[in-house]
Amino acid sequence: MKIVAIETSCDETAVAVIEVIDDRIIVLSNIISSQVALHEQFGGVVPALAAREHAANIQLVYEAALKEAFGNLKLEIRNYPIDLIAVTRGPGLGPALLVGITFARTLAWKLQKPLIGVDHMDGHVHSNWLGDGTLNADVFPALNLIVSGGHTDIMLMRNHGDYQLIGETLDDAVGEAFDKVGRLIGLAYPGGPKVSKLALSGNPQKYPLPRPMLTSKNFDFSYSGLKTAVLYLIRDLTGGTRELTDIEKADIAASFQEAAIDVLIQKTKRAAQAHSVASIMLSGGVSANTLLRERLTTLCSSIGIQCMLPEMKYTTDNAAMIAAAAYFMWQKNPSGWKWEDCQMDANLRLGTR
Ligand code: KG4
Ligand code: ZN
Repeated sequence: MKIVAIETSCDETAVAVIEVIDDRIIVLSNIISSQVALHEQFGGVVPALAAREHAANIQLVYEAALKEAFGNLKLEIRNYPIDLIAVTRGPGLGPALLVGITFARTLAWKLQKPLIGVDHMDGHVHSNWLGDGTLNADVFPALNLIVSGGHTDIMLMRNHGDYQLIGETLDDAVGEAFDKVGRLIGLAYPGGPKVSKLALSGNPQKYPLPRPMLTSKNFDFSYSGLKTAVLYLIRDLTGGTRELTDIEKADIAASFQEAAIDVLIQKTKRAAQAHSVASIMLSGGVSANTLLRERLTTLCSSIGIQCMLPEMKYTTDNAAMIAAAAYFMWQKNPSGWKWEDCQMDANLRLGTR
């Protein structure tokens, strides 16, 4: 079965084609057009601009994905061998989501194929199924650590589509904290990858920063206090009268990253033990963080459970992960996916608490 998927929830216009043969997922194409350079000048994603860019690019990205997947078949669009269409229907920026959903609905209507609306976060989780292509079920129950610019969730996953939210951030997401700290030390948006790169040359023990909610009994997080602690640290260092030195910046980046990841790992460890899971899975944009990947791998081997990390190319927003999530939704319920029923929900929430 071949699935084409569309993702426009934030600042990447993405289209992918996957094929599932004998319980193996093969990514035939995964095209991503990033708007990062456009939004950089505003210090964050501007929804109306994102939507305009998605609208300008989606057809081109779609054609590129089909061409890569099927070669230059010179087929009429309706003759491409597509069995199912998938699209991100939330959560995300409303105007941006609408572009992808409208495109997908039109495509499904034209091709007379089923259309599945996917939760973006379910997509991130399924980036873990894109690696070597095996659809192993022995990973369940799995503990998902979902970390992005909008989410910091610990989710118990008993099967595909069966999620229970057992912990979340009460304020800022961890990716958001990385971005805000990046801005405080003068790095362009998105700060996450730049902060982690800078941290490589810094001393993570230089500045003792708080580990918010580390000792709380629940699995919730709070990142706004850590960001504020960095703000006060910078104020104390410079007195507001000078710039930070390069060494100070690197030490702040390393100390912040250490604190942010320490809380993630400690809480994940306790949640995994409390729920006796078979595996821990990492996903979301922050899953690209090398230190987090290393620490999670070490944690899993120390407690003797499987560790699943998405391949680096699937850590940030992409449509292949949306296609993979849609496959399992389709497998559970192979009929009744009408294009008319696929509606946007910008506040979609994965799992029940
Ligand atoms: O999942 P994603 O691409 O978009 C959302 O759905 O939010 O995640 C983007 C987030 C941003 O906050 C970005 O700074 C963060 O992921 N990020 C990182 C790294 N790479 C991306 N944070 C820390 N370290 C990284 N290497
Ligand atoms: Zn995302």
